[in-house]
Amino acid sequence: MPKKNTVATLMAMKERGEKITQLTSYDFSTARLVDAAGINTILVGDSLGMTMQGYEDTLPVTMDEMVVYGRSVGRACKNAFVILDMPFMSYQVSVEQAVTNAGRLMKECQANAVKLEGGATVVKQIKAITACGIPVCAHIGMTPQSVNAFGGFKVQGKGEDNARRVLEDALAVQEAGAFMVVLECVPPKLAALITKKVKMITIGIGAGAGCDGQVLVYQDMLGMSGDFVPKFVKPFAHIGDAMSEAFRAYDAEVKAGTFPDAAHSYVKSDCSDEFLAKLDAEY
Ligand code: KIV
Repeated sequence: MPKKNTVATLMAMKERGEKITQLTSYDFSTARLVDAAGINTILVGDSLGMTMQGYEDTLPVTMDEMVVYGRSVGRACKNAFVILDMPFMSYQVSVEQAVTNAGRLMKECQANAVKLEGGATVVKQIKAITACGIPVCAHIGMTPQSVNAFGGFKVQGKGEDNARRVLEDALAVQEAGAFMVVLECVPPKLAALITKKVKMITIGIGAGAGCDGQVLVYQDMLGMSGDFVPKFVKPFAHIGDAMSEAFRAYDAEVKAGTFPDAAHSYVKSDCSDEFLAKLDAEY
């Protein structure tokens, strides 16, 4: 019987050298499957702006939207540790606002932790949120909320100065109290070095195998994301193709009149054929 994952059980996994798994989920049905598969942590990422809402980036996502998606996931999880993303501009403006919004996600979504993007620039927010007893997952390297500053979704930490900056960001968020950090799109050797240097859990995405765990966006790993697939994504299934095939088969059967057939209809009726004929004549 799998046990509920907590900060303590996840830290113990890191200490034992066991890899930690994380996938995104944004709805009840998917989260239930991810949870039942034994995935350790579920991230309700603000990537939902792109995967669920069709925006080009994560910037438009609001707190109210995070609460709606987050609640559905929270209700589905029996064992997975649920982390909710703090959306763009829900924590940058002031420490007070960051604490209020982190508290809201915890209270309204049955979350176990919040995640926010940034290194040295958000240490005040991380200190204040963790001081309230809310575990924080940081997110450094390629932070999608800064896509406009980066000029695109680009690998970070290339070159000596940038590598030093990413390592210093990791140390800064750890010092501020983060128990976990997502390392997104950084060179694998740098991610492995950071993992060696910190006590907190490192979760990689496009950061090689040297991290304590891995995260992927579930639509990406299921082959549901369309034509553009980032280099670091491995499609573990081709669910997108399977769905398209099923949608086409349904369309064809309904149009041909072969669905629904008797096996998929409530054939027994309380009314006799005579009565139905009478109704037909009356109306
Ligand atoms: O929003 C998200 O899904 C994320 C992951 C890609 C790490 O931040």
